[in-house]
Amino acid sequence: MRILVLNGPNLNLLGLREPGIYGSDSYADLEALVRRTGSEVGAEIECFQSNHEGALVDRIQEAYGRCDGIVFNPAAYTHTSIALLDALKAVRIPTVEVHISAVEQREDFRQISYVRAACLATITGEGIAGYAHAIRLLAGYLRTGKTDNTQGEKNA
Ligand code: DQA
Repeated sequence: MRILVLNGPNLNLLGLREPGIYGSDSYADLEALVRRTGSEVGAEIECFQSNHEGALVDRIQEAYGRCDGIVFNPAAYTHTSIALLDALKAVRIPTVEVHISAVEQREDFRQISYVRAACLATITGEGIAGYAHAIRLLAGYLRTGKTDNTQGEKNA
């Protein structure tokens, strides 16, 4: 099982960036966490971060036929990008949306998520631990075809 952990703009600055909202762990700490979680659940993990929307679209397209699942924090592109939604819909790879912060408790402009329509679940407000949660949820789904409703918020 191969899972792509995809991160959008400014997430390379984790630790430095608004630590009161995003915490003090760095992007390297996040990579270490997801690799550790991957080995616990028997999944190979690929990590990719970009500040560029098109590079994220390219990476989703490249995952087609290679990756079984995607854990995706599109960061600010969550709230703007139809291109990322369309890419996820095109490849139809099971995807879990993750946000480090509790986006639902933040500004109005963060209340829309375009990618959500192509994601099987959304995890918010758990800090970087949300990525480990997402990997576990996705690995369970890939093994059984089911999401456990007690884990994360299952999308319609
Ligand atoms: C974020 C929330 C987004 O609104 C924001 O633009 C980010 C990070 C999060 O992980 O909480 O860059 O996706």
